[in-house]
Amino acid sequence: MQIKFTERATTAADHVVIYLVADDLKLSSEAKAIDQKASNIISKAIKTSQFKGKRGSLLSVALAEGARADFIVLAGIGSLKDLNEHEWEKIGGSCVPKLNSLRASSATLVIESAKIGALAAGEIAARIAHGAHLRSFRFDKYFTKKTADDKPTLKTFTVALAGSKAAAKPYSELEKLAEGVFFTREVVSEPANIIHPESLAERCLELKKLGVDVEVFGEPEMHKMGFGALLGVGQGSVRESQMVIMRYHGAGKKDAPLAFIGKGVTFDTGGISIKPANGMEEMKWDMGGAGTVIGLMKALAGRKAKVNVVGAVGLVENMPDGNAQRPGDVVTSYSGQTIEVLNTDAEGRLVLADVLWYVQKHLKPKAMIDLATLTGAIIVALGTSRAGLFSNNDKIAEQLFKAGEKTGEEVWRLPLGKVYDEQINSDIADMQNIGRDREAGSITAAQFLQRFVNDVPWAHLDIAGTAWSKKASDICDKGATAYGVRLLNEWVKENYEA
Ligand code: BES
Ligand code: MN
Ligand code: ZN
Repeated sequence: MQIKFTERATTAADHVVIYLVADDLKLSSEAKAIDQKASNIISKAIKTSQFKGKRGSLLSVALAEGARADFIVLAGIGSLKDLNEHEWEKIGGSCVPKLNSLRASSATLVIESAKIGALAAGEIAARIAHGAHLRSFRFDKYFTKKTADDKPTLKTFTVALAGSKAAAKPYSELEKLAEGVFFTREVVSEPANIIHPESLAERCLELKKLGVDVEVFGEPEMHKMGFGALLGVGQGSVRESQMVIMRYHGAGKKDAPLAFIGKGVTFDTGGISIKPANGMEEMKWDMGGAGTVIGLMKALAGRKAKVNVVGAVGLVENMPDGNAQRPGDVVTSYSGQTIEVLNTDAEGRLVLADVLWYVQKHLKPKAMIDLATLTGAIIVALGTSRAGLFSNNDKIAEQLFKAGEKTGEEVWRLPLGKVYDEQINSDIADMQNIGRDREAGSITAAQFLQRFVNDVPWAHLDIAGTAWSKKASDICDKGATAYGVRLLNEWVKENYEA
């Protein structure tokens, strides 16, 4: 879908014109003029419908032949208080399915006032457009029989405002951010016969175009380094495990980087501790953490962020096989610490253990954030609207919380501590990969990760509940959400960019 910004050109007829209406239900001057010309059809529709200008509500009114547009859509924005960036994105995004249901190929949203709420019109226009753009993403490459009637019609979304140039700069950054989001949604949506460790590593190489250094480690290199925890997980798969390190330099050479680490289990059968058949197909998105890290790197490099960052992803497929690791196996991680693998389905932490250790040892980051679809327990605790946040650093936790509220990719912090840590002591090795009982499963998983962090400021985001959505939201079709790309882009921008 194409996004445009224009000054209001009133000559050409539009398919659909969208006006913003607050909960005072006052029409803008242009809408009022159309209303009067069309025998008050708009005000009558407001009176006779349940449209109250509530934020997120939409009302469409068909105009007669020869009118200025085929349809007028009123987009409710509620009260002007607390309309932050993300609220505007949601308003823009919510128009997209509506426009497709009206079979519109183009639509123009008109912003008449220079100041609505706290933000400037240019920023609002950019956010509305960004929301619409995000909502327009579809993963439909595998449909071969859809007719034009089944397909979305909307091709162009225009935002009209006086001084439309003011939207160009904020939008150019948001467009790069969207490219990162779309990359993530795409690779997370792909089935596991298409995205496996080697093909996902290959996709990372695309980032070289943006000036990102990409280094791929295969099994021979990881064997040599002693990545016993990661390699144990991939041992039952015919696909070769990979680790990819991506480096982007947007600040001074000497500036220590921020590091993002992603769990990239391209398919998680559970291994010998095999998962039930029902719903197992969902485990194609168990590489969501890695997908987010790669998309984030794409967004940051794409918008030339003034910061040094490293992205590191551990890519493996967890399969049962004659060569798969067994429950009870003891592996030696890259850190030298030994792990008793009591459940082969608690594999993400094993992958992250070696990647975290590698990153803190060789790349000397000033902070590390890992993302992982790590535990079903986080869905029990928080549901699907917030990711679980664990951190050894209050400042980072606070920064992430704020970035979450601002982007709508929200987090909720859960505790770490000695009582939880003791639960993963093993009888025969330094630690075991699951807790002694099923209590606090997301916390014991985070505790496990912390044993590979070595006091670097660190946060862990358990995104098992947020990486994929069974329902569409205002800015995302159902399916892969790319949760974390927008959150961490904001976190970097707000706290670390020069
Ligand atoms: N990838 C799963 C976690 C998961 C579950 C992600 C549901 C998304 C949706 C992870 O590898 C896993 O299997 N975790 C186990 C851990 C248990 C064996 C301690 C779990 O949550 O059941
Ligand atoms: Mn698992
Ligand atoms: Zn998993």
